[in-house]
Amino acid sequence: MPSSSTPARARVTVPSIGARKAAGERIAMITAYDATFATIVDAAGVDMILVGDSVATVVQGEHTTIPVELEEMAYHVRMVARAGTSALVVGDLPFGSYQVSPEQGVASAIRLMKAGAGCVKLEGGVVMADTIRAISRVDIPVVGHIGLTPQSYHRMGGHRVQGRRSGSDAGGRDRLLEDAFAVEQAGAFAVVIEGVPRALAAEITAKLAIPTIGIGAGPDCDGQVLVLHDVLGLSDLRLTFTRQYADLRATSIEATAAYVADVRAGAWPDDEHSFH
Ligand code: KIV
Repeated sequence: MPSSSTPARARVTVPSIGARKAAGERIAMITAYDATFATIVDAAGVDMILVGDSVATVVQGEHTTIPVELEEMAYHVRMVARAGTSALVVGDLPFGSYQVSPEQGVASAIRLMKAGAGCVKLEGGVVMADTIRAISRVDIPVVGHIGLTPQSYHRMGGHRVQGRRSGSDAGGRDRLLEDAFAVEQAGAFAVVIEGVPRALAAEITAKLAIPTIGIGAGPDCDGQVLVLHDVLGLSDLRLTFTRQYADLRATSIEATAAYVADVRAGAWPDDEHSFH
């Protein structure tokens, strides 16, 4: 389902994302989980489409991202990849598909690449370095994800801002710096920094050669990512670190209510929309 109404633009590649940082150009990333929304965000000019494990919460109705399965992620990656976007498609490795061993991570990454991803993302810093290295070594580009890692929901005791206190234990400021360096040294070509103080994200961004992509990490990262349903106002969550650019939930309820009213009144379908 290539986006025929979209003017052609250069395909965004892994090397071109790296070049953005050197050129001082910011990177715009957003999530999408199906072909329709992939064509919409591509037409809007995003650089990277994240088929995020947030599909669990915003589409599947789960409370956390933990339950979503690799096969379900492959299904959503395939739908997005079929849209034939210029934006680079990032397949998110779900909880349980890479934590067991680097070999498991490689096998899961291959699964998402076969479904059409252009690269994969996984959560974790120092402890995931060997896995990032193993996946990168078989030519699968990796985006790291540090800070507030939603798959660590239970360890963190909820979705909590990380790096607010000093220390090199999990959640400490020094540990976050170590995580950032570990991800870069292991071969990731970009890293998502989620839910950390602005000053720390700025420091990491200045120290790393690879682009940082922030969410709840302030404006000083090399790029930003948000969840599509939050941006469009499709979810009823109101989070402090996100911005709602439209209220499609209200518009959708209004449109559907008008349809229901027409059906009840016998006003739909009319003669013009009937076969003769
Ligand atoms: O799954 C997702 O949407 C993410 C973003 C929050 C970065 O990982």
